[in-house]
Amino acid sequence: MTTAFLGLGRMGILMAGHVLSAGHDLVVWNRTAGRAGDLVARGAREVANVADAVSAADRVVLMLFGPDSVREVLPEVLRHAQPGTLVIDSTTIGPEAARDFAALAAASGVRYVDAPVAGSTGPAADGTLGVLVGGAPQDYEDALPLLHLWGAPEKVRRVGDVGAGSALKLCVNQGLGVMAAGVGEALRLGSALGLDRDVLLDVLGATAYGWYLAQKRPMLDAGDFSGTTFSLDLMAKDLDLAVAAGGDLPVTSACLQAARAALDQHAGQDYAAMTAHLAG
Ligand SMILES: NC(=O)c1ccc[n+]([C@@H]2O[C@H](COP(=O)([O-])OP(=O)(O)OC[C@H]3O[C@@H](n4cnc5c(N)ncnc54)[C@H](OP(=O)(O)O)[C@@H]3O)[C@@H](O)[C@H]2O)c1
Repeated sequence: MTTAFLGLGRMGILMAGHVLSAGHDLVVWNRTAGRAGDLVARGAREVANVADAVSAADRVVLMLFGPDSVREVLPEVLRHAQPGTLVIDSTTIGPEAARDFAALAAASGVRYVDAPVAGSTGPAADGTLGVLVGGAPQDYEDALPLLHLWGAPEKVRRVGDVGAGSALKLCVNQGLGVMAAGVGEALRLGSALGLDRDVLLDVLGATAYGWYLAQKRPMLDAGDFSGTTFSLDLMAKDLDLAVAAGGDLPVTSACLQAARAALDQHAGQDYAAMTAHLAG
């Protein structure tokens, strides 16, 4: 089995590393060259174009920015992939795009599942991500050996036909966006009420906001969001996808506006910058 892995960003490079650790053949491609880190020293073949990555691959994993980047890359994948190749799209893209991409793939005799991941760089490094798979049962079965390399067995599941994984993933990230915004406004409220910020954060840490603050409080305390795990840019993209898919979502729409406003100062930084932006 040869795996082609396209997209070596923060998540992709960690997920691809597990393919090598399992002893499989791995070919990697990234739009910007030179991002393969130690994968090549560990045995991966880095290639300069998509055609060379996919032409001899049984499985092709996409871990790109969003639906627009998949729309750019997929046609070249489909031009050069062997019929029957399985494309596993782990990019967060939204359900409609997933269904479009599956139809394009089917027209080329290529199989497609959407398999977005839940969890960030820590679980990606540990191989304990959640994986939400939309696709035909047989395609899911065929994807499983690879998905189990970066997903925790109990958290890898087929959740429906193509698009279902992406739909769930938007709901997951909607929650993250609301959480980041909610903490920001709680901090603003606390400040208006004259509360001590540290005391407030301690107390909020033991509430429903605890999960978020356990991860992001060090960044919030330091006011430094450069140690990005999940970028504000990705959060804005996902909230935009959620609003586009969900119609009347006033709270999510407000969070999207907050994320976009924070991007002016914090592009490329962690999405926790959205909290600081709202906190003022
Ligand atoms: N980070 C997380 O915690 C996390 C968690 C779960 C899911 N996700 C999702 O997983 C995906 C990857 O996330 P990430 O954090 O790894 O993102 P990232 O670090 O920003 O990497 C994005 C990747 O997409 C590539 N790319 C962007 N536009 C492209 C285009 N037009 N054509 C080809 N390649 C393009 C980039 O290539 P260049 O190097 O050339 O820019 C890079 O390899 C996203 O869909 C994200 O929403 C992320």
